[in-house]
Formats: sequence, C-alpha cells, structure tokens
Amino acid sequence: MTPAVIRSTGLWTPENSISNAELVASYNAYVERFNAEHASEIEAGDVEPLAPSSVEFIEKASGIKSRFVVDKDGVLDVERMVPNIPARENDNISVLAEIGVKACKDALERAGKTAADVDGVIVAASNMQRGYPAMAIEIQDALGIEGFGFDMNVACSSATFGIQAAADQIAAGHARAILVVNPEICSGHLNWRDRDSHFIFGDVATAILLEREDLGHGGWKILGTKLKTKFSNNIRNNFGFLNRAERQTGDNKPLQNGAPKDDKLFVQEGRKVFKEVVPMVSDMIRGHMDELELEADDMRRVWLHQANINMNLMIAKKVFGRDAGGEDAPTILDEYANTSSAGSIIAFHKHSDDLKSGDRGVICSFGAGYSAGTVFVEKLPA
Ligand code: COA
Repeated sequence: MTPAVIRSTGLWTPENSISNAELVASYNAYVERFNAEHASEIEAGDVEPLAPSSVEFIEKASGIKSRFVVDKDGVLDVERMVPNIPARENDNISVLAEIGVKACKDALERAGKTAADVDGVIVAASNMQRGYPAMAIEIQDALGIEGFGFDMNVACSSATFGIQAAADQIAAGHARAILVVNPEICSGHLNWRDRDSHFIFGDVATAILLEREDLGHGGWKILGTKLKTKFSNNIRNNFGFLNRAERQTGDNKPLQNGAPKDDKLFVQEGRKVFKEVVPMVSDMIRGHMDELELEADDMRRVWLHQANINMNLMIAKKVFGRDAGGEDAPTILDEYANTSSAGSIIAFHKHSDDLKSGDRGVICSFGAGYSAGTVFVEKLPA
C-alpha cells in the first residue's frame, strides 16, 4: 500500500469583487425603498421597518472586507439583488464545471502533471448546480480524464472529507491520482436582502491534486485525517437551486423584516454556530494532535475554514496554547469572505509556499452538518 500525498492545489478567483461599502450602499438603498413603500403599514404597526446594515458591524463581527462574485451587477442592483447567472443549454459546460476546470488546470500545472496522470475527479462542494449528471463527471470529461468521477457534499467541510476519500482510494490502489474540486458559487444561495447574512459569502473554485507518493516529487505528506459530524439545524440550505426560475429573474418577493422567507436559501443561527463549533473544532484538532503525538511547538501553521476571524483566532489560540494569528493561522476571508468548502484550501494555497521541508500544519474545515475535518500535513522535499 503506497500512501497518497497532496501534490498541489489550484485556485480560480472571479474578476469582480464587492467591497463592504458597495454592498452596504446597495442594501441600505433597498432598506430605504422598502421602508418608504411600506410607510403607512409601518406607521400602523403592521409591518416592521427594516434596519440598515453597516460596514463597521460587518468588519468587526466577521473580519470580512470584500468578496469575489461571478456577477457583481445583479447582486448590487437594488431592483434585483440576485446574481445574474443565465441558465445555459445542456450542451454547454455548466458554470460550476467551468470554474472547477480552471482550478484543476492550475493544480495540474503547478504539479507539472496532465490529465493523463489522473484517474478520478471528486467534486466536494456545498452547492451543486443540479441533481445529475455529477459535476465531477462533467469536469472529468472537460479535462479528458479516463476513469471515474463523483460528487459529494458535506457543506463547508467538503474539501477535507474529499481529501480523505481521495487519499483512501489512492492508498487502496483504486487510482494513481485524484483531483478533489471545490467550485463554490455561494452568491446564488445567499439571501442578499437578509441583513444578518448578506455580507457572508463569496464565489471561488479550488482544486487539490492527490497522487500516489512514489509517482512524483514535492507537495505534502498526509500525516493523518479525521472526520466528524453531529446533526444541527443551525446552518441550513434547503437547496438554493441555481436554476430555479426566480433565481434567474431576481423576482424575489419583498421580505418582511429582512427575514429570509425563502427557505431554499442559506440560513443560520450565527451566534449558536460560533459557540458550538469553536469548542468542537478546537477539541478535534487537539485530540488529533495527541493521536499523532504532535505538540503545539511541532505545528507551524493552521489553515482554518474561513467563516469568521474571531472564531479562527479562538481556535488558533487553543491549538497553539498562546495568542496566535497572522502567520500561524492565515486569513483570506478579509478578501474572499466565506467561500464554504474552498476557504481552508485558499488559505493553504496562498500561505504554504514559504514553509520548509519537514514543517507541519493542519488543514481544518468546519460548517453545516455540523461537520468538521482535519488533515495534518508535512512538507516534502521539492
Ligand atoms: N449591520 C449592522 N448591524 C447588524 C447587522 C448588519 N448587517 N446584522 C446584525 N446586526 C446587529 C444585530 O441586529 C444585533 O443588534 P442588537 O445587539 O441590537 O440586537 C447585533 O448586530 C449583533 O448581531 P448578531 O447576529 O448577534 O451578531 P454576531 O456578533 O453573532 O455576528 C456573525 C454575526 C454571523 C458574523 C457571527 O455570528 C458568525 O460569524 N458566526 C459564525 C458563523 C459561521 O461560522 N457560519 C458557518 C457558515 S458556513
């Protein structure tokens, strides 16, 4: 049995970014309009007035300063507040597959590999574009990979669950190399009219190339993986389907009190998530470190899921046993916001080149389910 290594990662970032100031200006214009249109009902006490959003709140509560999106105009258009992502004919590549392919090509190029070296594709992501055929099979076809592909969804933890699935399959001899792909168009699933969450998500695609260790050089040895799930309704999406007619036209009904009437979109109890997930994840990382006989000093870096800067600082402090942040636990959510399954992979992708052979760290994801995954890695010689 020859183990798998993480040979490389790939990243595709949309061209357009929305700053908090732009987002809040659009949201507050919507609030003003809603309150003016409902002035008499508000006066009569039949309708609650909407409260404005604020840049200061968003940055302080979450650490998010901007987010990349596939379509900026549709999101910021006060008439619409839904990204304009036109439906495509079935014989055109779908949006998710298209961005996934871009991330895969980046990962392959960085490893000096081609599609001929790969036997499988796993799309591990939160928000699939359709029921079937699997997005992974479409990506496999677009890249010209012989072998197999399948989709899996463990919400924000999808990437680490995908890494374990791919590593196990490679070690068992079912594939030489597998691409784990995380295309996330979160903007299609976010209620941009909900004050509590309108700032949370962004769009992106990442890819991770796992390969049998003896088939190349460089990358990251996998010291151990661990997965955990525990049912909770505190983060939920009853399938915010990109292809639903009202998501295409922006014909959403006005929402009373900014509350998400449309339960086919992302909803959460952010405070509860914060309180419950921080200990769950900290304990999981520390427990896994004990199993691997790793002390805090053995760890160079944690690449955490990117949902909230305050959460990550608390988790990092527990892992390192001291105040930790910056280089210890790199942040990308200031620029990207929460990109669901892709977040910890973007952090790893952008903040791992400076580590030296033998340096160790953990990629850790957490999110809806609840779900959490840890992948401990050690840098291999180039
Ligand atoms: N602008 C201004 N004020 C806002 C606001 C906005 N956009 N949204 C909420 N507020 C107000 C609230 O009305 C509340 O006011 P009050 O104290 O007068 O009642 C106050 O800010 C605090 O709101 P709350 O929702 O408790 O904020 P929070 O500090 O918990 O931060 C999150 C909200 C979502 C940023 C935070 O809870 C979080 O990130 N949780 C973890 C989420 C997570 O990891 N999810 C995983 C998703 S995959």
